[in-house]
Amino acid sequence: MAGLRNFIKLAKWRPTLSLALASQQRSKYTQHQGVKGIRNRKSYFEAQMQQGKRDDDNDEQNGDSRSSGELFDMRFLDDRAYDEVAGGAMRITRNVATSQQVLILQPYVKWSAKRNLPQDVKPEDQLAEATALIRSLPNWQVAKALKVPLENLKRRTLFGSGKIDELKTLIADLRQEMSLTCLFVSKGTLSFAQKRYLEEEFHLPVMDRYSVVIQILRLHATSAEARLQVAMAELPYIWSQAKDASASQIRRQGYALSDLQKEILKTRERKLRAELEQVRRHRQLLRQKRKQQNYPIISVVGYTNAGKTSLIKALTAESDALQPRNQLFATLDVTAHAGQLPCNLQVIYMDTVGFMSDLPTGLFECFVATLEDAMLADIIIHVQDISHPCHNAQRNHVESTLRSLAFNVGGEHQPPIINVFNKCDLVPNADDHAEESTAHHRISARSQIGLDPLLLDIEAQILSVTGRRKIQMRVPSGGPEMAWLYKNAAVIDTQADLENPQRLLMQVVISQRTLEQFKREFC
Ligand code: GTP
Repeated sequence: MAGLRNFIKLAKWRPTLSLALASQQRSKYTQHQGVKGIRNRKSYFEAQMQQGKRDDDNDEQNGDSRSSGELFDMRFLDDRAYDEVAGGAMRITRNVATSQQVLILQPYVKWSAKRNLPQDVKPEDQLAEATALIRSLPNWQVAKALKVPLENLKRRTLFGSGKIDELKTLIADLRQEMSLTCLFVSKGTLSFAQKRYLEEEFHLPVMDRYSVVIQILRLHATSAEARLQVAMAELPYIWSQAKDASASQIRRQGYALSDLQKEILKTRERKLRAELEQVRRHRQLLRQKRKQQNYPIISVVGYTNAGKTSLIKALTAESDALQPRNQLFATLDVTAHAGQLPCNLQVIYMDTVGFMSDLPTGLFECFVATLEDAMLADIIIHVQDISHPCHNAQRNHVESTLRSLAFNVGGEHQPPIINVFNKCDLVPNADDHAEESTAHHRISARSQIGLDPLLLDIEAQILSVTGRRKIQMRVPSGGPEMAWLYKNAAVIDTQADLENPQRLLMQVVISQRTLEQFKREFC
């Protein structure tokens, strides 16, 4: 336990960590700072800012003249001039408390040759996802949600004239019944011309999936790092809308960036890039330290709302610290949670940002720095919601994103993946919903079903990937060897040696490197 505590100190997940011994074997530790779900959800980076002064003192002693003020200066993010530009392009607001009544339109292409959806995703599934997106925003209500069949998604007007008239009547009714305030067209991005046309026809602000997701991300970004990433994710959208507007020569109709606004965007982009570069460097530092400390890392990835946080909570029994929420993109930080395998080996679970399909890649590129950590883990647990009708499509989407992430971090190497089919409590026979060829664990994180076999599999994979072995060692009873092994290896069991009462038999999990250290020290 002291080892893990020291490691987390070293890795600066701080300021303070209290590691509590819990009753269950698998749930030995709880971190209370810099870890997802903790009451004030301060990330390492926020803690870093607060710690800045103390660090400076230390850094100065170590000859490092960098000032804390250079790190993660978030003040420029609260910029009214920028907010105006962002609001104009995306129809988003910093004031998410405002209540909204939203009409959701899910366009889909009716002819199979031009379908915009994977084979096993139906328009009604997409509509359900769009509804869940809106429900993830407090005070945003769904006035009505409907699918709209189209011949293609590229028309400048998006819908045909007959459909536009139909929608106008519906919108007029909804306005009277429930003061409709906003239209959400659930398509990755709408071109500027499409948006402008619909807004003029319906006299309502129009949002697409990109802008709704950005709105959710803004709400859930509590740490400095997440806020930087979300701020960065907004910029490509604003630029592309401005480019669209000038390409379609409809500047006169309202959306064109002034030189000053362009300068604001460029300056912001420069600053964000610099800040994110710092984030990346700190992550690299943490990774190196983690490597030196040799704690196995298990990344938990999956489609948004699949149950990643719930699984980590179940495997580490972090009771209050982790609060799963029935909201999309509840997790925006990669957070670390200490746990213990059945052989007593201490490990770290990393919770990650969820994936979602039909989002422009630019949106998630900003989270790549954090997802890189997932790709450099010893193993990956891919959590899938087996009760979801689009389970297979969601899995394919996550798998292909993981492949491109692996490529991004510079290698074909992908850590071994354990497939976990979660929420089996909601599906009487979960195998009916899965492709038979996929090896998987059927579990329910909420009802604690199937966790023990999963833990044993995690253990087997971790031992194999990290080159650790279970071995029995004969050591002098009460000697320094015993204390050394408790400190540096995972002790599974200790028994008296029946052949020699001066000695003990210790069953341990140990890596080759640690075993050699032991030999150098004592043999
Ligand atoms: P994001 O952070 O948004 O990506 O979500 P996540 O993947 O971390 O999911 P989370 O653990 O927050 O759970 C999402 C919802 O699913 C919550 O309402 C959970 O209570 C619920 N949930 C998780 N696991 C189970 C399960 O095994 N059974 C059931 N019935 N519900 C579950």
